[in-house]
Amino acid sequence: MQTIAVLTSGGDAPGMNAAIRSVVRYGVHKELKVLGIRQGYEGLLNAEIEEMNLSSVADIIHRGGTKLRSARSERFKTPEGLRKALNVINIFNIDGLVVIGGDGSFRGAQVLSENGVPTVGLPGTIDNDLAYTEYTIGFDTAVNTALDAIGKIRDTSTSHGRANIIEVMGRDCGDLALHAGLAGGAESIIVPEIPFDVDRVCNKLLQGRNRGKLHSLIVLAEGAGNAIDLGKQIQEKTGIETRATILGHIQRGGTPTAKDRVMASQMGAKAVELLLEGKESVAVGMRGTKVISMPIKEALALENEMEKETYDLADILSK
Ligand code: F6P
Repeated sequence: MQTIAVLTSGGDAPGMNAAIRSVVRYGVHKELKVLGIRQGYEGLLNAEIEEMNLSSVADIIHRGGTKLRSARSERFKTPEGLRKALNVINIFNIDGLVVIGGDGSFRGAQVLSENGVPTVGLPGTIDNDLAYTEYTIGFDTAVNTALDAIGKIRDTSTSHGRANIIEVMGRDCGDLALHAGLAGGAESIIVPEIPFDVDRVCNKLLQGRNRGKLHSLIVLAEGAGNAIDLGKQIQEKTGIETRATILGHIQRGGTPTAKDRVMASQMGAKAVELLLEGKESVAVGMRGTKVISMPIKEALALENEMEKETYDLADILSK
């Protein structure tokens, strides 16, 4: 193994830069040539590739976004796209590839490895929706960003005695809503994995009001519904004035937390180690404080499970 390359793909996530830095600097430490591919698989097809060195990743560990930029490439999914990608990999003598991204990016990584390119996937997504790992890079920062917003909305919710619905990202996964909602003391947390009953949400809200609660916070995962529609329903059923806030892409940016930087650094180095060990198709993840790895195919086959105990606890505590 002489030359490795790294790319970030799919939705960006805070901490991706720390992961890139780790792959590049650990690769250089192991005397490898390290190439950076811009704009994910799309950039691979366009051969947007440059050699990286220690200085190319200076001053990025604390920055949100991804220095290598990102894209969701439809072209790469076609047979023609794959042929082109393999050709570029060949021209640049890439012996191993590190893909930082979510499940869509991992599927691309798997296809490349099936076609003879040793590939390691690093979980980079704010959604925390990859079942094989307890943690994905960007999740902690996104939770804290959502939490900051929830805290601010709590202030105005109290002042006006309203019910505020806060919609967070996460695609089909409720982890971001659950963690931000629990940490923010939300009265109700609505996630795609667990069916919800709007009457129960309303009853809880009214019980809180009867106890003299002034604010009401309902955290809704985007995969479970729409904040504006839910707000209208709640207002009709309870007579309490509602406001909806969709946090949107604010959750994808910002300075990564220490946790995201540390885990990204650990997993980035592990990716390089695995390529040097001759692994051909592996996903790197975290279980507790341990860095783990498993075949990408197996990782993608696992079903993501909701943290039911945490959900139930949040429900009990949010009286
Ligand atoms: O996967 C990350 C994510 O931010 C999801 O939470 C969200 O549903 C999606 O990406 C939004 O994608 P885009 O930035 O392409 O609109």
